Amino acid sequence: MIGTVYKPIQGITLVCGDVRNFDAVDIQAPAVITDPPYKLTQGGKRKGHFSGGKMANYDNNGRPVTCDITWTEVMRVVDTLAAKQSDIFVMASAANENVFKAHAAAKAQGLRYHNNFQWDKGTPTRNRWGMRHLEDILYLYKGKAVKLRNCGQKQLIDIPRCKESQHPTPKPVDLMRLLITLVTSPGDLVVDPFMGGGSCAVAAVLEGRDFMGFELEPEHFDEACERVQAAIIDMAFKQRVAV
Ligand SMILES: C[S@@+](CC[C@H](N)C(=O)[O-])C[C@H]1O[C@@H](n2cnc3c(N)ncnc32)[C@H](O)[C@@H]1O
Repeated sequence: MIGTVYKPIQGITLVCGDVRNFDAVDIQAPAVITDPPYKLTQGGKRKGHFSGGKMANYDNNGRPVTCDITWTEVMRVVDTLAAKQSDIFVMASAANENVFKAHAAAKAQGLRYHNNFQWDKGTPTRNRWGMRHLEDILYLYKGKAVKLRNCGQKQLIDIPRCKESQHPTPKPVDLMRLLITLVTSPGDLVVDPFMGGGSCAVAAVLEGRDFMGFELEPEHFDEACERVQAAIIDMAFKQRVAV
């Protein structure tokens, strides 16, 4: 194992460490759902800009810092963790052409493409070439193409931004719940190699899925553990009330 491990209940495992160092021999996930770190702008000297081929990550105060992971590495990690028969969602915005780079890296890795969903974040990010309010969600797969649990799902997903996390770029739990229920059944394993503050982990708990997640930064990992623990307690309480 590569770092601190938190296993609050059977089927839920959170790991603190660099997912690239993890030997995924025993993991064959039917679903990998993730929101990896990526470079936000073309470069330059101003705050929030990066030069060279680095990708964006965030320190504990929400300031962007560089990290060295590439789209090729992201897709290699995803491929390693995903079972031979699996569905995959990878999030990437159009900023700095990330969604196109992600798609190219996925194809180069041998992952297959179904569709693009888009999360409408609501409040747009100011941009000289058009305000940005959409984030793409690449819908990929391995093995046979298996239809969605809800084939009526439209591409555009309108869910308000997340307020319940300290992470600088959290995804709403409701968005992660929707993605999980589109491609898995209760008891299936969902893996998030870049789980941040744990929105996907919380969603998996609330939907009764097994979960394995990885996070490099101890502060984000600690938050993910706390949120997962709270979700488990909440679920147990609701089940007792319902009996
Ligand atoms: C975009 S954020 C994910 C946010 C998450 N979806 C949430 O709702 O909180 C990407 C995360 O990947 C983590 N990360 C970056 N490189 C990593 C690596 N090599 N292994 C594991 N985690 C990594 C970053 O620390 C960051 O928290």
